[in-house]
Amino acid sequence: MNKGLKIFLITFLIVILIAVISVTIIKILRNNNDEKIDSSYNETAVTKMQELNLYDEINNKEYSKTIEVLLEENKLNEKYLNEYYNITYSNINNFSTIINQLLDKSYNSEEINYIISNYINNYDIILNMDYFDILSFKNISNFDINQIERYLAYQNENEDLNINTVVTYVNIGLDLEGYSKYEEYTNEEAENDLTILVNKYHKLPDDYVPSDLVSLSYSSTYYLRKEAAEAFEKLTDAGILDNVIFYPFSPYRSYDLQSRLYNGYVARDGKEAADTYSARPGFSEHQLGLAVDVRSSNLPDNLTPEHYKWMLDNSYKYGFIIRYPKGKQHITQFIEEPWHLRYLGVELATKVHDSGLTYDEYYDIYLKKTSN
Ligand code: DAL
Ligand code: ZN
Repeated sequence: MNKGLKIFLITFLIVILIAVISVTIIKILRNNNDEKIDSSYNETAVTKMQELNLYDEINNKEYSKTIEVLLEENKLNEKYLNEYYNITYSNINNFSTIINQLLDKSYNSEEINYIISNYINNYDIILNMDYFDILSFKNISNFDINQIERYLAYQNENEDLNINTVVTYVNIGLDLEGYSKYEEYTNEEAENDLTILVNKYHKLPDDYVPSDLVSLSYSSTYYLRKEAAEAFEKLTDAGILDNVIFYPFSPYRSYDLQSRLYNGYVARDGKEAADTYSARPGFSEHQLGLAVDVRSSNLPDNLTPEHYKWMLDNSYKYGFIIRYPKGKQHITQFIEEPWHLRYLGVELATKVHDSGLTYDEYYDIYLKKTSN
């Protein structure tokens, strides 16, 4: 091999070697660079952010799964970019569409996170409404999203009420006229549950008659359900020991008797007045066989103030509550009735007594089975 050819070959090899090394170095550098600016987002997202000219802005911030999904699905709206970062990704259908709809309605990221974790199954209700302060209903155990429009309307009309009270009152039904809309129990429900709530929004079947009525020692024609009757005898004995002598004057009443009484009051005082002190047939606790009206020994149909005080302080110990207390007519829908006792059993009567709530409120807050 002549010298010239040798030099040419060596030079050629060196050039090839330099070229290979350079290409390798460039490749390594480019890879490193790619990794640095695109550490987490997938390829589709990166392409989309480049198209939107948001590459630098997005990559200067922490990775966000929410942003990635929005980019992938072509749903990223630049004006919401900052809010998106505070919205926790959730693996639900239409996540991107939902958060955009909520942002369009002016919900902020905190509210959106709350809605997604708590109310995604009722999302259509929220979607069909204007913005409302959903976080103000947080931690209200008896809040029912299905009633939201009623809560908001009632809140508007009663600005002095706090939001917990609004929820409870609407759940009871107080935003509606009594008797205008009510649930009717089955005979089984009435028979098997001694704690059942009966009021102008909860009706008993016309033909419901308790199966275990027994007569009271006071009169063989006065009946209560067995458990209530036994408790009533104990209550009476406790009164005697404290020199508080009272008698029953209206215990169990059939649907027909309640009907005759109510119609008689309507004929005498008019319907509006009668509705303030007498339940319509089917809506009286007396038909449950768990309510009894009591009178002081020297009065025809009421307790003396002293006896009433004793009853307020003692009846729960034997399982009875004063069902229609003073100052609660706007909730119970009946004027004060010192004489009307409702049997609930000692445990529940004690809780209701201690709560200071009417039974309508207590039932809604603590006992009602909700669909939520
Ligand atoms: N007086 C009560 C409300 C009733 O008629 O049951
Ligand atoms: Zn009564």
